[in-house]
Amino acid sequence: MKRSLDEHAARFDEQASEYDDSKSEEYNACANLVIEHAAPGADDIVLDLATGTGAIALALAPDAKRVVGRDISDGMLAEAKRKADDEGLENLAFDTGRFREPAYDGPVDIVTSNFAMHHLSDAEKREAIAVIGDLEPRTFVLGDVMFFGEPDPDEPFYSPEVDDPATVGMLADAFTDAGFSLTAVERVHDQVGVLVAERSSAAGDAAVGE
Ligand SMILES: C[S@@+](CC[C@H](N)C(=O)[O-])C[C@H]1O[C@@H](n2cnc3c(N)ncnc32)[C@H](O)[C@@H]1O
Repeated sequence: MKRSLDEHAARFDEQASEYDDSKSEEYNACANLVIEHAAPGADDIVLDLATGTGAIALALAPDAKRVVGRDISDGMLAEAKRKADDEGLENLAFDTGRFREPAYDGPVDIVTSNFAMHHLSDAEKREAIAVIGDLEPRTFVLGDVMFFGEPDPDEPFYSPEVDDPATVGMLADAFTDAGFSLTAVERVHDQVGVLVAERSSAAGDAAVGE
């Protein structure tokens, strides 16, 4: 991580009230793909890591049983809570938690995360993906800044001073090591994509049932 957790939290606290006003086309495409692939059913519990102002969590809540959002920025979490209240959504719970310590040990069917894991170093991402694997969700949907080709700081979405994105290959390996099978790869931009992973046992069960 190129900045400490506290520095990242402070950076997002500062932008929290304006965060929703500055979304790029690629961010929107990425978020929509995460929402589309997560597709929770009425009995599903969703854990949205680095939930920010709740873009993914709020979109999934109407279809899910419950959505749990975790983030390190109090300012972003306050915005997420305010929006959930404004929309009258009651099956959402937002609180402090980080990728490698989500502060959640209940059941979870689907884990989502959008535009955030690139703040971690590759070793930290591996650790985070292993922690997510240990929660035993059926599906993990990761939208993020990730490299499909050569890293290019002159292209959007990658600021080397604060970001530390991985290659798609590194993320695919980390998913496999954590017991997931990659079931979809969506390229939004050469430096933005969505990976969909299913627990290997869940993927096997589905194949047997077909
Ligand atoms: C660019 S925002 C994305 C927010 C949201 N997922 C979205 O799609 O709009 C990145 C978020 O990641 C959070 N974050 C950064 N590092 C984190 C970590 N290690 N654990 C949890 N949240 C983290 C920040 O506080 C911020 O809210």
